[in-house]
Amino acid sequence: MSDIPLSIVVAVAKNGVIGRGNDLPWRIPSDLKRFKAVTLGKPVIMGRKTWDSLPRKPLPGRANFVVSRTAGTFEGAIVCDTPEKALQRAREAAIASGAGEVCLIGGAALYGALLPVVSRIYLTEVDLTPEGDAHFPMLNPIEWREVSAQAFDAQPGDDAGFVVRVLERV
Ligand SMILES: NC(=O)c1ccc[n+]([C@@H]2O[C@H](COP(=O)([O-])OP(=O)(O)OC[C@H]3O[C@@H](n4cnc5c(N)ncnc54)[C@H](OP(=O)(O)O)[C@@H]3O)[C@@H](O)[C@H]2O)c1
Repeated sequence: MSDIPLSIVVAVAKNGVIGRGNDLPWRIPSDLKRFKAVTLGKPVIMGRKTWDSLPRKPLPGRANFVVSRTAGTFEGAIVCDTPEKALQRAREAAIASGAGEVCLIGGAALYGALLPVVSRIYLTEVDLTPEGDAHFPMLNPIEWREVSAQAFDAQPGDDAGFVVRVLERV
């Protein structure tokens, strides 16, 4: 089962900020389209605060796994009380549905908790330096190699341009 890789999907500002006030500090619809394209059809794992931040929950077309110590029930999601249990159940769901990977979609606490077992990072580098209260964990550069990078100019409605990088664990 551990053959199903775990991949992070994240948008990070130049100063490492990923969130503010339990929301994204920017509006970049072009990157949300990319997020949908990467995650659709795959199980997604998120922390309870990220679940709370979703405007229309659960994310459609994806099995939603939410990590919460309170182990409450959230309609449309499978709640697990540890990140490790969520990963195990998400991998089972991936095998059952034929998905090739499980996506870890935030936030800061969950990225930090599961980073040691992540094999790929879909990293959108946002060309902004906003204030924020949630940060992406520091990556050790010797553990990661960049396999692709593509720059996108801001489109109408986007707060900024961005670079999409794919990193794989060495
Ligand atoms: N830029 C991006 O790509 C991106 C993506 C996602 C989120 N975000 C942003 O990130 C921020 C949220 O991040 P966050 O770190 O505050 O929250 P989070 O990681 O989304 O959720 C934290 C919650 O997850 C549960 N949790 C965390 N670690 C756990 C553990 N080891 N065992 C069991 N449960 C655990 C707890 O839920 P309970 O309190 O219920 O026990 C905790 O309060 C928001 O601003 C959001 O907009 C940004």
